[in-house]
Amino acid sequence: MHLLRGAAGLAALLGLAPRQFAADSSAYVDKETGLTYASYTSDRGIIFRVAVPDTVPTSLVYDTVLQIVSPIAVGWAGLAWGGSMTYNPLAITWANGTHNVVITSRYAYGYYVPPVYPSSNYTVLKTGTHINATHWQITAKCTGCTKWGDDSTGVTTIDPKIQNTIAFAYSNTPVDTPADAGSSFGIHDSIGHPVFDLSVAENKNFTAAVAKLA
Ligand code: HEM
Repeated sequence: MHLLRGAAGLAALLGLAPRQFAADSSAYVDKETGLTYASYTSDRGIIFRVAVPDTVPTSLVYDTVLQIVSPIAVGWAGLAWGGSMTYNPLAITWANGTHNVVITSRYAYGYYVPPVYPSSNYTVLKTGTHINATHWQITAKCTGCTKWGDDSTGVTTIDPKIQNTIAFAYSNTPVDTPADAGSSFGIHDSIGHPVFDLSVAENKNFTAAVAKLA
């Protein structure tokens, strides 16, 4: 008798089939900001979270909220909205001593320090942004992180109803000038390409809920 009939049979036997297309993120309800996020924890324990509105226009131009929680010793932690280093909006964050947490919008045109990208704008939300002895955390609204590109590079959008690959990177080395959002910094020590399921991160009355956190 054949116990297994190929890969499908093996997957079914091991109970793997239903999880075949599972995202790397999971839903997280944050008591402090009151928002629900898709949350992913990278190696080194850095947490990357994204929250979206429950309804978005067909243009797919809408605001998002990004939250990053990082061990204090991390030099910088960044998120790439389009899932790769180049040709998509990047958010890079770091602690400026114990004074504040910095976020900067960048865009890489190659594998070198990404220059500032003025088409994505971050508004730091006071609620959800702080530093303590072990971690720094930032919560920021992004305007312009869900659609980018042009005719030559191609236009890309983030559809919150489907799974999206969102990349991360971090370095253990501090940025060159922590007080300056325009600072340069060195290459990452680690990167990853987690798949986010943003359908679990939909928030009702998003605009009003986010405005209260500013
Ligand atoms: C000084 C800054 C940086 C330098 C010099 C740098 C350099 C590089 C290099 C050389 C690679 C390897 C390319 C390959 O062999 O395939 C790479 C890959 C990668 N980098 Fe960076 N990087 C920097 C900043 C960043 C930032 C800020 C992010 C994200 C926020 C990022 C995300 C990635 C990712 C996700 C990859 C994997 C390949 C891809 O998906 O595009 N990098 N980087």
